[in-house]
Amino acid sequence: MKNLNIGIMGCAAIAERSMIPAIKEVDGWSLVAVASRTVEKANQLAVKFDCDAVVGYQKLLNRDDIDAVYMPLPTGLHYEWIIKTLQAGKHVLAEKSIAYDYNSAREMIDLARSKNLVVMEDFMFQYHSQHKFVFDLIGKGEIGEIRVFRANFGFPPLAKGNFRYDDKIGGGALLDAAGYTVRAVQFILGDDYCVKAANLKYDPETGTNIYGGAFLDNGSGISAQIGFGFDNYYQANYEIWGSKGKIIVDRAFTPKPDYSPTVIVEKQNNRKEYKMKPDNHFVGSIKEFRRAIIQLDTENHYRQVLAQSKALDDIRKLSAK
Ligand SMILES: NC(=O)c1ccc[n+]([C@@H]2O[C@H](COP(=O)([O-])OP(=O)(O)OC[C@H]3O[C@@H](n4cnc5c(N)ncnc54)[C@H](OP(=O)(O)O)[C@@H]3O)[C@@H](O)[C@H]2O)c1
Repeated sequence: MKNLNIGIMGCAAIAERSMIPAIKEVDGWSLVAVASRTVEKANQLAVKFDCDAVVGYQKLLNRDDIDAVYMPLPTGLHYEWIIKTLQAGKHVLAEKSIAYDYNSAREMIDLARSKNLVVMEDFMFQYHSQHKFVFDLIGKGEIGEIRVFRANFGFPPLAKGNFRYDDKIGGGALLDAAGYTVRAVQFILGDDYCVKAANLKYDPETGTNIYGGAFLDNGSGISAQIGFGFDNYYQANYEIWGSKGKIIVDRAFTPKPDYSPTVIVEKQNNRKEYKMKPDNHFVGSIKEFRRAIIQLDTENHYRQVLAQSKALDDIRKLSAK
């Protein structure tokens, strides 16, 4: 099996908690280095995960023993560092949301294509096996024809000073939370759909959007509604309403690797709860990144990222500030 060497750009909480352990678990990946803006953070993670410490992101890119970079930086820094990573001849897995807007997503994808490299967004929730269970139920006609899709992702306020409140580096609930719900909408509506109406609420103190909602449709008679935010009671679910029944995925976006999520199927006079097996979607994502690199198979990812970036742009445009 061809081995791929990976470096981490930024000692983010998500890298330490979830992605580096996943990288260490998957065959065919070797963790070579972690890079930080500060020597203390680089050293702390390097010792913990037994790899080199690098101070400064460009120094990571200058190394010729790295094939790919995992980039858990705030979204507003992705464009600069994804372009530099691709120019350095390395594949990149960037945290969600990968792009601030459609145009920058397009530019990153075009550069990756021209260099036969992979740029992938780490929307890990999609790789949880519970969604395959849901698609199989729909395929078997369990809930009849689909009428409406609804997804919600939101959580209570974050600590002051969190980068998600800083618009200059891509903060806001639209890029942070709505991206999940839009990506889930694409499970059902595909990549060719429109945002018909949207609402974004801005925090007067920081000027950052903190919650909102949207209505989407793809012209086939199926519509979708999303709700998102980080000034909200916790929700991370989706619901598919059909002509004969309804499927509810209770913990759609954030099931921990040891958690058994519940999928509920409701029909006339009948309600069934299915306990899903625990699954590590971070492992699923890093496996998919490897597969995409080895097979240079990216067009599906690119279609999804472009549709998602356009939808997020449209939500921004349709919402009066
Ligand atoms: N896929 C998921 O399940 C998931 C879950 C949570 C978060 N995320 C995404 O992962 C990314 C990181 O989130 P996190 O919660 O882990 O954040 P975090 O702990 O604050 O980490 C962000 C890292 O970015 C680097 N950075 C560079 N410039 C920065 C700046 N101006 N301000 C703040 N940080 C800066 C820092 O690394 P150094 O100081 O080491 O350079 C910092 O540790 C975000 O894009 C977020 O949307 C994904």
